Amino acid sequence: MTTKPNYRRKRHGIYIHPLIWCLLVLAAGGSLLAWHLHRAPETPAPDGSGAAPIQSSAVSDELPGHIVTPSGIACTLTQLPENSIYTGNLILVNNWTKFHFPKNQEDSLDCILDKRTDSYYVRDSSVYLLPEALSALNDMMDAFAAESGKKSVQIVAGHRTVEYQQHLFDQSAKQNGLEHAQRYVAQPGYSEHHTGLTVDMGTMTGEFMDSAGDYRWITENCQNYGWIVRYETGKEELTGIWDEPWHFRYVGIPHATEIVRMGYCLEEYIEYLKAFPQSGSHLMIDCVSGHYEVWYAQGTGVYLPDSTPCSISGNNIDGFIVTCKTA
Ligand code: DAL
Ligand code: ZN
Repeated sequence: MTTKPNYRRKRHGIYIHPLIWCLLVLAAGGSLLAWHLHRAPETPAPDGSGAAPIQSSAVSDELPGHIVTPSGIACTLTQLPENSIYTGNLILVNNWTKFHFPKNQEDSLDCILDKRTDSYYVRDSSVYLLPEALSALNDMMDAFAAESGKKSVQIVAGHRTVEYQQHLFDQSAKQNGLEHAQRYVAQPGYSEHHTGLTVDMGTMTGEFMDSAGDYRWITENCQNYGWIVRYETGKEELTGIWDEPWHFRYVGIPHATEIVRMGYCLEEYIEYLKAFPQSGSHLMIDCVSGHYEVWYAQGTGVYLPDSTPCSISGNNIDGFIVTCKTA
């Protein structure tokens, strides 16, 4: 004999019709979805780019106009232009996060051949960098020459246009196959070389630099000049690029120091900085150029110091990083 299932449910004597159950379940699901969407900007994208929509300035209307940071810096809430999120030394550029070319970018770049010291060489007069990165490159190469007695580094690449990146990608795919090209050449429009903050280092004999032998000092000390080795073994899934010991990225001394200390790639570091929001506890960094307090602002409402020197960089995704020298 089969028993008919009893769909009627009684709870403390109250009968709830199945249709009412369905409505209750739908309502609960809707609330959860709304909560998730509200929190979405804090959730990193699975590809490691940290992609999230830029918050409108309306959010910052709820913030107080002034704060004093944990190390005593008086700050005022300031609205920054939305497109400045795409500029600065800490912008993350990778195969999922494109570079936003500023208008007349070429006007802000310096020719390495014109401005370099005599401690190193550069391929030719077509290699350009942003001035702050070029100055830091000069400092690092001077220190390397003084330390090693060698002046044999040759800068083989700096800033690249999208057209040139496309040419390199096509050439690599033709010579070595598509898979190899995808491992070693960023997609046009998505290369750090577009930023003017990146160099490829080689030797006078035309080879790319490696991290062993004569040039090991550069790999081990570059953070003290504001540079990081951008693509390292073990981080391929996050960076999208295979080991490139010749590709250096300028981020500034405090951040390069912290990146190396934590053993992070830039993707991980940009995510890590979100743990130091402007209205929470801040990151303190000690490095060869001094002591720094660092905070992250999501969106365009940013607390900026009233008088303490600071640098501000967009992260190229959803906000800004403020870096303040405190000593
Ligand atoms: N080789 C690096 C990944 C670039 O093409 O930007
Ligand atoms: Zn490179």
